[in-house]
Amino acid sequence: MGDAYGERMRGMAYDRFGDDDVLALRDDLPEPPVGPDVVLVRVHAAGVNPVDLGIRAGGLANFFPHNFPIIPGWDVAGVVEAVGPAVVAFAPGDEVFGYVRRDDVQWGTAAELVPAPQRCLAHKPASLSFAEAGALPLAGLTAYQALTEALDVGEGDRVLVHRASGGVGFNAVQIAVALGAHVIGTASPRNHGFLRDAGCAEVIDYSAGPISAQLSEPVDAVLDLVGGATLADAPKQVRDVSRIASVVDPAVNGMGGRYVFVRPEQHDLEELGRMADAGQLRVPIAKAFPLEDLVAAHRLVGEGHVRGKVVVTLR
Ligand SMILES: NC(=O)c1ccc[n+]([C@@H]2O[C@H](COP(=O)([O-])OP(=O)(O)OC[C@H]3O[C@@H](n4cnc5c(N)ncnc54)[C@H](OP(=O)(O)O)[C@@H]3O)[C@@H](O)[C@H]2O)c1
Repeated sequence: MGDAYGERMRGMAYDRFGDDDVLALRDDLPEPPVGPDVVLVRVHAAGVNPVDLGIRAGGLANFFPHNFPIIPGWDVAGVVEAVGPAVVAFAPGDEVFGYVRRDDVQWGTAAELVPAPQRCLAHKPASLSFAEAGALPLAGLTAYQALTEALDVGEGDRVLVHRASGGVGFNAVQIAVALGAHVIGTASPRNHGFLRDAGCAEVIDYSAGPISAQLSEPVDAVLDLVGGATLADAPKQVRDVSRIASVVDPAVNGMGGRYVFVRPEQHDLEELGRMADAGQLRVPIAKAFPLEDLVAAHRLVGEGHVRGKVVVTLR
């Protein structure tokens, strides 16, 4: 970011990879450029995801071009401020939500304005608040794409969702239920009531031994959100290894299952919005922080025990 742009905006940013202490509140960030396919969104809420911490630590440096200063965050809900000349689906004043994964890492959602490619956005579901809509996209799309594309979950399937109390997990439970599945979720006992409220027919304590030993019979599909030893146990949890999907461990491919990396997809966002408005998808917010407390939000997510979603709000 040089001085090519006129106006300045407020946001959180970092100039080098590192721990959460590299994050700083700034009021001198340049306002983003609005290219032909760009929807400039005034941010009301920005969901925080584990990948934000990974990017901040430099973990995806070989995966995307990175340009400092980096504004973190891929999840957004807000109001369209301006659109580029090739944008047809959105107009200033529209309420939108989206997963703003651009081809480079620089312009994130933890700032007053974010330049979002139009493919990353959809209209905000009316039934969700900005905080809820801003917490939904990345985790919701991951769950939706894993269940519908990788696992082809349908009516009557018995589906095991690991880490079901986290951001991807609680979405997966509700989406699988909406698809007609019988859902079994894993969580620590303090989260079992939460899982049943989300729609789990059965719950399993992940700290009480291998999951396969706790199942009454193998399931039809497994969504792994843990990896490692939990994934290694998965072939004993399922009837057919081709119906194991993992979003955390590419080793699943060598087992005959599918690794899933979420992608921005307008149609899928619209489907999530439709489920929310139909009362099939709720977005529990574990904690909402003001933008300037993003460091605390990153710390909380980094502890790995959030129930629901963490979000920062700007308005
Ligand atoms: N490939 C992709 O495209 C993609 C997309 C999204 C996410 N991911 C990855 O998927 C993982 C999950 O993301 P998330 O946002 O859902 O995480 P999250 O919200 O931070 O997960 C927190 C939850 O995990 C539970 N948990 C921790 N260890 C567990 C275990 N061994 N078994 C069962 N539950 C456990 C915690 O419950 P307790 O307090 O009970 O432990 C807590 O409720 C992360 O590694 C993330 O990076 C990948």
